[in-house]
Amino acid sequence: MAHLVTLIPGDGIGPEVSEATRRVLEATGVPIEWAIVEAGADVLEREGTPLPGRVLDRIRDSRVAIKGPITTPVGSGFRSVNVELRQALDLFAAVRPSRSLAGLPTRYPDVDIVVIRENTEDLYQGIEFARGTPEALELRDMLLRFSGRELREDSGFTVKPISVTGARRIVRFALEFVGAHGRRKVTLGHKANIMRFSDGLFLSVGQIEAEGHPEVWFEQMEIDQLSMRLVREPAAFDVLLLPNLYGDIISDLCAGLVGGLGLAAGANLGWEYAVFEPVHGSAPDIAGKGIANPIAMILSGAMLLRHLREAAAATAVEGAVDRVLQRGDTRTPDLGGTSSTEEVAAAIEETLRG
Ligand code: NAI
Ligand code: MG
Repeated sequence: MAHLVTLIPGDGIGPEVSEATRRVLEATGVPIEWAIVEAGADVLEREGTPLPGRVLDRIRDSRVAIKGPITTPVGSGFRSVNVELRQALDLFAAVRPSRSLAGLPTRYPDVDIVVIRENTEDLYQGIEFARGTPEALELRDMLLRFSGRELREDSGFTVKPISVTGARRIVRFALEFVGAHGRRKVTLGHKANIMRFSDGLFLSVGQIEAEGHPEVWFEQMEIDQLSMRLVREPAAFDVLLLPNLYGDIISDLCAGLVGGLGLAAGANLGWEYAVFEPVHGSAPDIAGKGIANPIAMILSGAMLLRHLREAAAATAVEGAVDRVLQRGDTRTPDLGGTSSTEEVAAAIEETLRG
């Protein structure tokens, strides 16, 4: 029976890299029935919302989706579709692997890091109060009463909630991920000395849960220290467990260690649903030019195949990507080449079909 998979092409370079990905996944011979549904900028223009209810319905039907990037509409009053999706489907874990690819010379030959990012809380939850609004002024009064500290009247606010419930499930997810994926170590990043009741809570939940997993080498590190160490000796790290905002930042850093956003794949996972997507955004600067690197989304597709228990096909896709990069004659401009999105997809497809 064919796997039912929802495909959201997205906007900007989304449709270009989505088409490339669909083509490569189909070349594996794994039977997939696509349910294609649009979200993002064009839908916003036509329907007044970037994320119509049917998109969520489709994903709930198929339980598995792959999506291209979607532009966050600025000043439209809509929140990021990506953040909205993660919250609506409770996709609490983002998993983003970065490994040095055989065929691509980068600064570090031996990076193999998986970022596990908490996806639903922290400063990303979108609880904000604009400067000068009655809410912001009332909040300021309240903070004066509660803390005795008078904040400037022209302050804006973004709230950083981190709960025991939210921390515990991502910590457990990460500790179990280590065993399930043949990894060895988890490094929890935080700034607990400054943000004692958000990051501090995340850290203490991590320490408590890690005691129940003596087989996992668990360490913790302040996020600034972690950033420095990552750049100096990335091979010392294995699984990074991070609250939402640090996870966002550090996953781009890790992508940079192994060749950039054009290669960085990802998954957003919850108990019920899984949405696979590249780490990168809609790249308006190169959209429509046919030169976007499709490999980040193709590798997200490989993660999707593994999730569908099509491990052999997943490995085949990863191997084909490696071989094409190694050959070196078909690369998009972000990797120093001159090939188009379509040419890279065709080369990977040909390699797969052998
Ligand atoms: P971006 O990731 O779209 O672009 C950053 C830089 O990387 C640009 O120079 C771009 O050309 C380059 N780049 C990205 N992907 C590439 C690829 N596949 N091949 C070659 N070059 C690539 O980040 P930016 O510009 O900050 O965001 C653009 C829009 O995308 C924003 O509206 C943002 O909110 C949204 N976004 C959406 C995400 C999602 O759908 N999950 C994730 C990140 C950003
Ligand atoms: Mg990001």
